[in-house]
Amino acid sequence: MSNGMFRRKSLQKVMADSESGHNLKRVLGPWALTALGIGAIIGTGIFVLVGKAARDVTGPALMLSFVFAGLACIFSALCYAEFASMAPVAGSAYTYAYLTLGELMAWIIGWDLVLEYAVASCTVAHGWSKYFQDILKQFEFHIPTALTNAPFDIAKGGEIVSTGSILDLPAVAISLIITFILVRGIRESAFINGIMVVIKLAVVFFVIIAGIPHIVTSNWTDNFAPFGYGGLSFFGTLVWGDINPATNAPSGVLAGAALIFFAYLGFDAVSTSAEEAKNPKRDMPFAIIGSLLICTVLYIAVAAVLTGMVNYKDIPKEAPVANVFAQVGMPWARLLVSIGALTGITSVLLVMMCGQPRIFLAMARDGLLPEKFFASVHPVYQTPWLATMLTGLIVALGGSLLPLDVLAELTNIGTLFAFVVVCAAVLILRFKDPNAPRSFKAPLGLFCPIGGIVLCLVLMFSLGWENWVRLFIWLGIGLAIYFVYGFHHSKLRIEDNNLAKKL
Ligand code: ALA
Repeated sequence: MSNGMFRRKSLQKVMADSESGHNLKRVLGPWALTALGIGAIIGTGIFVLVGKAARDVTGPALMLSFVFAGLACIFSALCYAEFASMAPVAGSAYTYAYLTLGELMAWIIGWDLVLEYAVASCTVAHGWSKYFQDILKQFEFHIPTALTNAPFDIAKGGEIVSTGSILDLPAVAISLIITFILVRGIRESAFINGIMVVIKLAVVFFVIIAGIPHIVTSNWTDNFAPFGYGGLSFFGTLVWGDINPATNAPSGVLAGAALIFFAYLGFDAVSTSAEEAKNPKRDMPFAIIGSLLICTVLYIAVAAVLTGMVNYKDIPKEAPVANVFAQVGMPWARLLVSIGALTGITSVLLVMMCGQPRIFLAMARDGLLPEKFFASVHPVYQTPWLATMLTGLIVALGGSLLPLDVLAELTNIGTLFAFVVVCAAVLILRFKDPNAPRSFKAPLGLFCPIGGIVLCLVLMFSLGWENWVRLFIWLGIGLAIYFVYGFHHSKLRIEDNNLAKKL
């Protein structure tokens, strides 16, 4: 049994599998791929989470949190880019793990990526609904309370409280609309995504340029890091930093980085579209790194402007980036920024919900999921339509019925875990297969993979212990599914067994 579980795929086999059957259309160029990356990155994190992070966790030192989280992501992105240039197939970290760490680890990562893509999409659909409702409010229009939120929430002490709602109707609506667009085809999706990326970039630039004249430097200098620079805990025990008594949670630059890490998530979604790229070996590294660098610079600028415009304690709770303009006497800018934020969040959903079915597709090709369903490509639209519809259903249900915070933190820990594995896999492959063709190689020898592993682990440990418990439960469910289904249907295992019988 252990032989089957740890069997690895060869790079040649991965490439051959991707070329046989289930082919997707190669229509994406370097800028479309970069737009896909930016589309997945700028969203709920910078428009929503940034307010809570600055107010409760970091103060103006939020800029440093963005630098730290950005660095962890840049190391990981360089590793993703190296892999994407070696094995430009759908499946992202899942496929990379299959090449280096074997089937069991590949399955674990594939299952873990559901946290990054489908669960992140639930989070984003939930956030989308909040902004949508905020815009409606600006026009004095209110949706009935029963249809505005998930039915329950988790209070500070951990107890489950009722919100008074039944479900979040706007979250259901946006999930279904995006599903329809994605089933229709990636060319149309890429076009719509491009328009949304232009709008949200324009709004982010607007925030920076219109905010600069309102910066009062004493907002930074008077109390730059009111919660310190730490916030690192180890399974719930604080090892460096302080607890913020108002929130009863670890605070400081590192804790802030673990929270706003969500804002960076998405650059790796580019790697799930490798099979739709015209020239993946050249364009994947360009798009992964390019989209991340652009967003890192913009995020640090937005954090600086936001914490410079008002005292960090006065950053508004709801729609912080939009409402801060109302506070400095520019109420008209609120609607403009809200519309940009809504557009931004929509494009995140589009890319995330596009990534999930492609990971399912890669797993189904290997026999770890039922192939007839998950690898079925639509005869006309050439999209993985059934897996896309299933993803839409999961997002509609999760986004409308589960609390936002739980979803967001689960996404962060799951994604960080995937990044650690990708960096480790790059490291292993450098030793196991040093001569494999790499049209892009992460620079500075082993520094990037090792740096990525260390920084991502630091961020994982800066998240609360409940997240570790949830991650382990999730992975436990995944393992059970693997042993009930995937292990027995694994194509690699069946092929190897047939070969062994012939010999
Ligand atoms: N980075 C994405 C966002 O902030 C997930 O919405």
